[in-house]
Amino acid sequence: MNKRFYSPLLLAPLIFVACNTTQPTTKAQETKEAPVVEVAEKNVLKEESIIQPKATTKKVATTTINGVKFVNKPLIEEQGLFHIKSFVGTLQPTLDSAMKDSVATGMGVCMSIDTAGEYNALTTDTKISRTALKYRNEKNKPDATDTTAMKELVRKGDFKAITVDAGDHYRVYKPLPTKGECLVCHGDSSKIPSKISEMINRKYPKDLAVDFAEGEFRGTVVAEIKK
Ligand code: HEC
Repeated sequence: MNKRFYSPLLLAPLIFVACNTTQPTTKAQETKEAPVVEVAEKNVLKEESIIQPKATTKKVATTTINGVKFVNKPLIEEQGLFHIKSFVGTLQPTLDSAMKDSVATGMGVCMSIDTAGEYNALTTDTKISRTALKYRNEKNKPDATDTTAMKELVRKGDFKAITVDAGDHYRVYKPLPTKGECLVCHGDSSKIPSKISEMINRKYPKDLAVDFAEGEFRGTVVAEIKK
């Protein structure tokens, strides 16, 4: 348990090295890498505070909905969120630079599967993925557990993470709100610039991920943690 708990800390330098090596070190890129380091540092501090958890912060509860067991495991949730935040941190510069070049060339860069693959290659006991009830890429299609978990996230509506006990592993779900900047590719389909909607239709003919409003639940990043 302890060994697994500390593993995210050991990964932090690895993630940083990976970011440094996968991106060209121009001046502009250097400044963009800063948030990744911050994310890692912030979580290191968080991990420390968890070593002496405050008994009053969370109540212990287990609920089962549609056979899916929702659990309250603060340490597991923290470990999952650490990986999720590191992963999202590595994506942000990619999305930012894609948006700066041209929104159209940003297609497929948005939190791309390959980036998740690169991240997952660095981790052993945790796998990161993304899913949504209305998804764009069929590879991100939710399974029954994901669907139940996301319906619960929508019902709660507070954008707080939840954890599921899925037998041999836990799944930590971090809900993603639709932000203003997401609307250009996920918003009102009649307002998506034609250049972008053409590309979406070509690459994702069965796209479901449009007509989101700002603030609406867009989907979730999932950390699957082996028991
Ligand atoms: C430049 C266009 C673009 C922007 C802006 C954009 N996305 Fe996406 N998004 C995509 C594309 C394309 C995919 C499919 C990627 C793939 O093939 O995995 C996608 C996939 C996703 C997925 C994975 C689930 C699915 O539908 O397949 C999530 C979650 C998501 N986007 C959330 C967001 C959020 C949140 C924002 C704003 C912070 C955002 N996106 C901004 C184009 C965009």
